[in-house]
Amino acid sequence: MRANVKILGAGDCADSFDERDAFALDVLAGLSAAHKSIPSKYFYDEQGSELFRRITRLPEYYLTGCELEILEGQWDRIAALVAGKPFNLVELGPGFSRKTTLFLERFLKSGLDYQYVPIDISASSMGALVGELADLFPDLKTHGLVGDYFHGLKWLNHRFRRRNLVLFLGSSIGNFTRAESCSFLRSAWKCLNHDDLVLMGFDLKKDIDVLLRAYNDSLGLTSRFNLNLLERINRELGGCFDVEKFRHFGSYDVSSSSMESYLVSQERQSVFIEQIGRSFDFEAWEAIHTEHSCKYSLSDVEWLASQSGFKIREHLFDSCRFFADSIWSVDKPESVRQGTEGEAVAQSLGSDSRL
Ligand code: AVI
Repeated sequence: MRANVKILGAGDCADSFDERDAFALDVLAGLSAAHKSIPSKYFYDEQGSELFRRITRLPEYYLTGCELEILEGQWDRIAALVAGKPFNLVELGPGFSRKTTLFLERFLKSGLDYQYVPIDISASSMGALVGELADLFPDLKTHGLVGDYFHGLKWLNHRFRRRNLVLFLGSSIGNFTRAESCSFLRSAWKCLNHDDLVLMGFDLKKDIDVLLRAYNDSLGLTSRFNLNLLERINRELGGCFDVEKFRHFGSYDVSSSSMESYLVSQERQSVFIEQIGRSFDFEAWEAIHTEHSCKYSLSDVEWLASQSGFKIREHLFDSCRFFADSIWSVDKPESVRQGTEGEAVAQSLGSDSRL
């Protein structure tokens, strides 16, 4: 069998967690704060993922089309960087998207020796992805890893120590704050080996009207995507949100160069959430912050790379220069290039022959 899914458990160094408890705790903390918020990672349940998939097809949401144009037009430059030796094509937070299938198809056709390693926290979306890929590419070697990204990378490094090309597409990095991005990238750097490659999508700074249209689309899909957070609380935590009493609001913050999404309570209200066992009060026009989507200049991208131990190999742009896929390599001092880190990880993980 060429495709399988490995659930990283406590024995593999992943924390054991209950997704629903974590959701309840984050909602409790976020809605109790002076400035209410809910982390954007909770957008992506089944309904939210489907709405996001539909958003990526909207012309107003230019990000996906621009990145696809880059990958389609310049994939041979990416292939040239990994040609010659077997490698892992790792994708953080994959979806069954045209961007992913484009890589897989072209790399297979050009005879590169690689295996595809998607890493995602959701077992159900991983199962679906691996199944669909097995139908579409019977010759592809796929190892889906279910767990957090860093445990996935560590496990991979222990089990299949080859060069890695890590994809983090779609400007997902932009959903982190600057401090979170630095800490995320430093953690990734620690899990990777010298000269491994990372290809990361960055949505670039541009005309504010283009940004506002992308996050306030005319079909109202972004609004539904945002409101689905409240519906998810109703479904999973026994929340009593009347979604009609809230509205989506997407605005651009010039000082942090980011699109910020909010859910605004249109009247004074109190909402009970059963699993949390309490009500939350909302003033009229009080907002819940739900998403931060940072937009970058090239110097921001360069700063991030330099802060986290990466060397920039090249930037690839679409024809409008709306988006950049930036290719970085891991730069480690000679003294930590081999051995110690990998061996420590190997000891803590133990060997696993189930994959
Ligand atoms: C997944 N992420 C990069 C998207 C973004 O643009 O921040 C999510 C999204 N939010 C609204 N529309 C799309």
